[in-house]
Amino acid sequence: MPEREHWTSRIGFILAAVGSAVGLGNIWSFPFQTASNGGAAFVLVYLVAVVLIGFPTMLVEFVIGRRSESNPVDAFEKLGFGNWSFAGAFGVVVSFVTLSFYSIVGGWVLSYILGSVTGSYFGDAAGYFGSIASGTPAIIGHAIFMGLTVGIVAFGVTDGIERATKVMVPGILILLVGLGVWAATLSGAAAGYDYYLTPDFAVLFSNLDSIIPYAVGQAFFTLSLGFSVMIAYSSYLDRDDSLPADSGAIVGVNTLIALLAGFVVFPILSTIGVSPESGGAGTAFTSLAGAFGQLTGGAILGFVFFSILLFAGLSSSISLLEVPVSYVSETYDYGRTRVALGLGTAIFLFGLPATTGLATFGWYNDVVFNLLIPVAVLLFVLFVGWVAADQFTEEISLGTSLGDSFTITWLWWVRLVIPLAVGFTLVLGIQSLLLKAGIIDAAILLG
Ligand code: PHE
Repeated sequence: MPEREHWTSRIGFILAAVGSAVGLGNIWSFPFQTASNGGAAFVLVYLVAVVLIGFPTMLVEFVIGRRSESNPVDAFEKLGFGNWSFAGAFGVVVSFVTLSFYSIVGGWVLSYILGSVTGSYFGDAAGYFGSIASGTPAIIGHAIFMGLTVGIVAFGVTDGIERATKVMVPGILILLVGLGVWAATLSGAAAGYDYYLTPDFAVLFSNLDSIIPYAVGQAFFTLSLGFSVMIAYSSYLDRDDSLPADSGAIVGVNTLIALLAGFVVFPILSTIGVSPESGGAGTAFTSLAGAFGQLTGGAILGFVFFSILLFAGLSSSISLLEVPVSYVSETYDYGRTRVALGLGTAIFLFGLPATTGLATFGWYNDVVFNLLIPVAVLLFVLFVGWVAADQFTEEISLGTSLGDSFTITWLWWVRLVIPLAVGFTLVLGIQSLLLKAGIIDAAILLG
């Protein structure tokens, strides 16, 4: 076995983890979810979920990874609990399934970059979306996006992932700030900010029962938790790093970028008079793209905006592929390049059914969100909190001066609060899946 790689620097690790966290979720869905859930009031709930649930859960994955210095499946064995390997394996499955449809969205982004050059979505963005979202164009985009992901991961942790994210993450930040400054000059800027920043507590309170579990789920997704990604990434980490400090930096930058995306999206939409709530999650590809068609310099804007999305998507997809690649390449003697290519192909094929139409695509998304992520998180927190807590309370205190009271608070939080929050989210998630499948009807819903 070749020696295991290590991040070349602390900032390299943080940028890679930020790259994973900052994804299509931040730029594509966050602003629109905010719009339909009470604006700034929703941002508050989201921040609370990210800080109280996301941050401590990130530490859960970090302690497993750094303590074991192993891929997510072998980690449990390494720590002396081989009978828990299934939990790591479950995380690998979540990554596999997620990448299979995340890559399709990556393909849509590629189609829009092309469309910004040729102008093909300017007249009728909704029509364009309909023509590329499924069928052959979607398959081609999916294949190219997977190819790019495989290409980066094949180079390895430091030469591939670390190097790519060192370029992409600052790129995202700079371009997004640039677009934000430009958006501030638009005629609808003030109205857009107003919309974004005025809390509507009435909408928030009347939908609190659906918003809270949604915010918890979004906190996991946006921070890449429940995929074993953060286990894999932290396994390449040295012992002298402060895990809480790293985690705080990652959560902070991720949140900043999500908030920034709102400062780009809302002024644009209000300038052309489109309600941000109207189009749901597809809005970036329909109304926002439509707006680019109507504004001066729209072609350039569209090109830049979708390039940001491409960077965000790729720096996330490589982390998803790294999870199974680290496991397979450390278990069998095939070499990273072949493993990356083989797994990339398998994931591509697994995603193909989701290119047949948006309804099937939606099923992939919903199963991951409502079922797979919460189950994986629950397994990780129960393991760290109740099964092997001693090792982890020691691990978390290495490299930090935060002291025992932090460790104890974290431990009890992981033991009690997070399982309760995730359990609640899971019940509602399963319910919504059963409802969607027509197995139960709305009359017997709880909560
Ligand atoms: N955090 C990413 C996003 O917000 C999604 C993701 C999850 C990426 C897990 C990689 C791993 O889009």
